Amino acid sequence: MNNNVPPPGNTSLEALITSWKKSPYPSVKITSYFPAYVELFDHLRGTACTFIETGILDGGSLFMWRSWLGDNARIIGIDLNPEALKWKDHGFEIFIGDQGDPLFWQGTFKEIGEFDALLDDGGHQSFQQIVTAYEAIRRAKKKCVVVVEDTTTSFMKDFSKHGKYSFLEFSKDATDVLVGRSVNIDKGRFPSSINNEIVRNFHNTYSIQFFNGIVAYKLDPNYCIEPQVVRNMPPNSASDFRYKGVESAYVDWPHPFKRKSVIVKGGMNYRSKLKIIKSFIHKVIKKTKATVAADK
Ligand SMILES: C[S@@+](CC[C@H](N)C(=O)[O-])C[C@H]1O[C@@H](n2cnc3c(N)ncnc32)[C@H](O)[C@@H]1O
Repeated sequence: MNNNVPPPGNTSLEALITSWKKSPYPSVKITSYFPAYVELFDHLRGTACTFIETGILDGGSLFMWRSWLGDNARIIGIDLNPEALKWKDHGFEIFIGDQGDPLFWQGTFKEIGEFDALLDDGGHQSFQQIVTAYEAIRRAKKKCVVVVEDTTTSFMKDFSKHGKYSFLEFSKDATDVLVGRSVNIDKGRFPSSINNEIVRNFHNTYSIQFFNGIVAYKLDPNYCIEPQVVRNMPPNSASDFRYKGVESAYVDWPHPFKRKSVIVKGGMNYRSKLKIIKSFIHKVIKKTKATVAADK
């Protein structure tokens, strides 16, 4: 692990760090966030983008974004503290309200319209992060990115009232929801009931990216197509050896604070085996009938 600030050589990253250092007002950031910001927002530099940041505090980050993204960017700051309205005098659009309240977002997104990026650096409580991300994701219609930072609070003792429903758990489970788009590929192989409402709410989510302390929801309606199986040509007769190898693995389950080793089993369940045997018998009967008919 590199304990220093990110390595030099990336000019956009250097420009971002310079913009942050030269901001005329205070801003506290975490070093590992800068390269993630570059990865997530670099495409917006120099464009007339709409960039929203929840959490203004001393105003320093608003100036960093304007300096790095360029003067054409529409920078919008959101905070619960009404004193933040003073940043309007510096050319920023400011909305005052509670990010944990879905009704606040309803009115605010109506006023803002479409946006290119939303970065949440507000209250950091899981329900606030969830409401903010969820309301943005549900409402976004065009390609954009919804980013929540300081997701480390999902594990912090002083933020632990969420119990098992932390923002990180929400985001990890949201990746499962993307699977919901695939059920039509082979309906019989998935659970018979599907939570269509939730699948619909994430219908524009193309990918979910996890960084240290940051989760990014990348929305892109153009790429959220219904998955289909395609072949470039008919298959040859090669046997698939999927179930011929070892049948389980001993795995150290990934968790930052607990040690847990589990056996992950493979192989096929009884029903699937039966289905394959039935289909094999069906094929043999069909072939035998065809041979008998040909002999006649
Ligand atoms: C970490 S600071 C923001 C720092 C700033 N983005 C920067 O980089 O310099 C968090 C801000 O979120 C605001 N905040 C806390 N709870 C909020 C809520 N429920 N809704 C909106 N803003 C909230 C606080 O008032 C505070 O100004």
